[in-house]
Amino acid sequence: MARITASVFTSHVPAIGAAMDLGKTHEAYWQPLFAGYEFSKQWMKDNKPDVIFLVYNDHATAFSLDLIPTFAIGTAAEFTPADEGWGPRPVPKVIGHPELASHIAQSVIQQDFDLTIVNKMDVDHGLTVPLSLMCGELDPVKDAWPCPVIPFAVNVVQYPVPSGRRCFNLGQAIRKAVESYDENLNVHIWGTGGMSHQLQGARAGLINREWDNAWLDQLIAHPEAAADTPHMDYVREAGSEGIELVMWLIARGAMADIADPARKISVKHRFYHVPASNTAVGHAILEHV
Ligand code: DHB
Ligand code: FE
Repeated sequence: MARITASVFTSHVPAIGAAMDLGKTHEAYWQPLFAGYEFSKQWMKDNKPDVIFLVYNDHATAFSLDLIPTFAIGTAAEFTPADEGWGPRPVPKVIGHPELASHIAQSVIQQDFDLTIVNKMDVDHGLTVPLSLMCGELDPVKDAWPCPVIPFAVNVVQYPVPSGRRCFNLGQAIRKAVESYDENLNVHIWGTGGMSHQLQGARAGLINREWDNAWLDQLIAHPEAAADTPHMDYVREAGSEGIELVMWLIARGAMADIADPARKISVKHRFYHVPASNTAVGHAILEHV
């Protein structure tokens, strides 16, 4: 059967993608950020998954006010990097896994979570920046991402947004879905976006280092408590865009220790850096022991 063996948590910021694409990673501003992902790139090489289930948010790129799915699963064979206004990022196209994605859709919908099934979708920085951070710089034509990716888009842009608890419970349903797939596949689940940031209004530029780190402590060691973080706490403490953090709860909910306390997890890597553009960058890698 297929198994989820690890989860990866990382912020996304379009400027990180631009720094990589424009050869600026060694500049003084960016160097400390990319240094925090050196371990992660090696870890990806040493622990190459068969499939990445990548939870991210679309930023009015594939979707718009015309259509606002709360949870959307990408079932296509491939996904093209989106043009977000400056041309598409020069990164490889994303190869999907239609069979596993369709199986997860069937199983998760039968477990009472209504997913939108997306057979055609471009993917924006929310998905490509985490891939770049974890896999390094790749030639858009000669190289490929290390494995197929199932994009899973969560609406955290246009209200109403889903609660952290619902995301956490959905993660548990995704784990069950993966474990009921016949083929022997090693699956990693990624929760992306966050940490504290606010891009608009009177509090634009808000960063909350203390709250971010306390929340990450809780996500790792007391995930049920993190899942109960009220919506308004994210907005007040982590800024309007800090709500992207609910996506980390999907990946955390999918780890085996949630359903079975006998299973333990270990923290392979943890990193925090302020700022990248307007955002506090948080990152962690969890594995089952
Ligand atoms: C920034 C952060 C985001 O999450 C985003 O989607 C766009 C911009 C920023 O910090 O610049
Ligand atoms: Fe964002």
